[in-house]
Amino acid sequence: MSIKPKFYIKDLKDNVGEEVSLKGWLYNKRSSGKIKFLILRDGTGYVQCVVFKGNVSEEVFDAADKLTQESSFEVTGKVKEEPRSIGGYELDVTDLKIISLAQEYPITPKEHGIEFLIDNRHLWVRSKRQVAILKVRARVVKAIRDFFDSHGFTLFDPPIITPNACEGTSTLFEMDYFDLGKAYLTQSGQLYEESGALALGKVYSFGPTFRAEKSKTRRHLTEFWMVEPEMAFYDLDDDMDLAEEFIEYVVQTVLNDCKEELNILERDTSKLENIKRPFPRISYTEAVEILKKKGVDFQWGNDFGGADETLIGEEFDRPVMIHRYPTEVKAFYMKRDPENEKVVLAVDVIAPEGYGEIIGGSQREDNLDLLLQRIKDHGLPQSYFEWYLDLRRFGSVPHSGFGLGLERTVSWICGLEHLREAIPFPRMIYRNTP
Ligand code: 4AD
Repeated sequence: MSIKPKFYIKDLKDNVGEEVSLKGWLYNKRSSGKIKFLILRDGTGYVQCVVFKGNVSEEVFDAADKLTQESSFEVTGKVKEEPRSIGGYELDVTDLKIISLAQEYPITPKEHGIEFLIDNRHLWVRSKRQVAILKVRARVVKAIRDFFDSHGFTLFDPPIITPNACEGTSTLFEMDYFDLGKAYLTQSGQLYEESGALALGKVYSFGPTFRAEKSKTRRHLTEFWMVEPEMAFYDLDDDMDLAEEFIEYVVQTVLNDCKEELNILERDTSKLENIKRPFPRISYTEAVEILKKKGVDFQWGNDFGGADETLIGEEFDRPVMIHRYPTEVKAFYMKRDPENEKVVLAVDVIAPEGYGEIIGGSQREDNLDLLLQRIKDHGLPQSYFEWYLDLRRFGSVPHSGFGLGLERTVSWICGLEHLREAIPFPRMIYRNTP
């Protein structure tokens, strides 16, 4: 016997005037004498179910009376169009069966502190705002895949367990790997994507990455998702062209497909509507000038902190691409600018409205000797990178790529304060439960 629902709330518009049965949970309840107003949620939407004493058996009316917040139940009734009601439809209830009566639910509509809410993340995800965010996240994920799948890219999955660092040794999660010594959770699939690009031309990876970030900020998670395209025969300009086309696509897709969710989140969508190409492109040196004009005492050669990124981002109404960073602050694999040895062909994309860096990318060093030198300069063990150096020994080509952080992008699009709401179960320095 099948028990799956035949109808979902999102389909009510096609069943006006008909009797349907829905299954879900009690979101909210109100009584007015002989009438009970039950708000049912089923993951696809919300609908008000009206239980009128005169229309149902005593048993059904009692069941409606007993329902507590988050109890699960099945309800049958006639669908009515009701523009004033949540979702625009209502159910005139004829029958109701309790599936499971919920105990006193800890997350009531009243305000709760953030620690309490994260402790109860497994329940908190049921709330309207969290459902909206998680739907946007799922739509962003699909938009990311659709974009690369339709632009000639092949998905190329890198390993999660790696023998060496990609993005500096200070944020590695370490483990003992049998008889082989230490291994680490991946910080980025990039080095493997480079191998993929030389095999398949244009590749991308998309999955969780890990950084033992010791900083407690609203922009850092220790486990986050990153999409990393890597393209053979792309220089830094080609890389930036792709990044801006990609961001425009993702933002416009969400704007188009997630109107209801953005509305629930009270997102000012006018700020997203103008996320259209071309995005401004400025050099690191020009960005430093912006900071200085704003009164920041900033030394050329330092890396930007979160506060600096916010100040620079505020100058623009769309993402700004900052390119050509000082060699010292960037990773070993980035190519030096042939016109200025002091900088590398790197790009960071800073989101507007104070959301900070969402993309880090670069043209890669494709010269064997220069790359070897950079590995030495960074004090990295050459032996671990022999396979990576092979990519320069056997048919090296200019190539580029970037990484976009999923949670930072979702936070920006949804207008969230903190990354922790942009992932179902956030992992941070002080939190690895539930
Ligand atoms: O700038 P990052 O470190 O670049 C790389 O990892 C390159 N290997 C990518 C590449 O070229 N293939 O990180 C890329 C993006 C950042 O812009 C940010 O959006 C996100 O990853 N990110 C984080 N998101 C959440 N929490 C953290 N701790 C993050 N660290 C980076």
